[in-house]
Amino acid sequence: MRLFLDTANIDEIREINRWGVLSGVTTNPSLVAKEHGDPEAVWKEILAEVDGDISLETTEPDAGPMYEEGQRLAGMAPNAVVKVPMTAPGLEAGRRLAADGVRINVTLVFSPAQAILAAEIGAYCVSPFLGRLDDVGADGMGVLRDICELYAVQGYASNVLAASLRHPMHVVEAALAGAHVATMPYDVFTKLVKHPLTDVGLEKFLADWRAIEADQP
Ligand code: E4P
Repeated sequence: MRLFLDTANIDEIREINRWGVLSGVTTNPSLVAKEHGDPEAVWKEILAEVDGDISLETTEPDAGPMYEEGQRLAGMAPNAVVKVPMTAPGLEAGRRLAADGVRINVTLVFSPAQAILAAEIGAYCVSPFLGRLDDVGADGMGVLRDICELYAVQGYASNVLAASLRHPMHVVEAALAGAHVATMPYDVFTKLVKHPLTDVGLEKFLADWRAIEADQP
C-alpha cells in the first residue's frame, strides 16, 4: 500500500519526503486555502518536490468548465492527478479526461455504489472518505472493505485510495482491507513511526552505551 500525505504544506511534505516512504500527496481546496498563497505556486512546489502522484482538485461545478480546468491541471506536470467530485458533472468531466489519458481521482466518495460509477468511467483512483463517514455514525472502514472487495470481484483496474484517515489504526486496517493507497494528514503520518516501547528501549540502549564509554580508561 502506497502512503500519501494529505496536505498542501510544503514544509510537512519536505519533512516526510526525507523519510523515503512518501509516494504522493493529495490536496483539496480547503488544504490549499490554509496555505494563503497563489494555488498554482503552492501546487508547483509540491509537484516538483515529490516524485509521485500529486492530486489537484477541480473547482468548476459544471462538466464543460470542469473538463477544461482538469486539462489545465493535468498539464502542470507529468505527476499531476486530477480530482473530480463524485457528482453527475464530475462523472461527465472525469470520463472525458480519462478518455484523453488524464489520470483522475474521483473524490468525496461515501458509498460502494459511487465507487462502481468511478471505476466505470475509468478513474485512476477512487477516494472513499472514512473519517467523515465515522463522524456521522456510519462505518467508514466497512465501506472501504466493501469497495476493495467489489473492485477485486469485478476486476476493476482503479486504485482504492483510503482518505480522511484520522489515526494509525485507520492506516493499518486500510492496508488489511486491501487499499492500494492511504492518504493521511501530517500528524497521523508522524504517529505511524512512534511506539512508547521504542522510546524506552532506545533510552536504555543509549544509557548502557554511555556507561561503557564512562568505563573506558
Ligand atoms: C482526500 O483526498 C481528502 O483531501 C481528505 O482525505 C479529506 O480528509 P478530511 O476528512 O480529514 O478533511
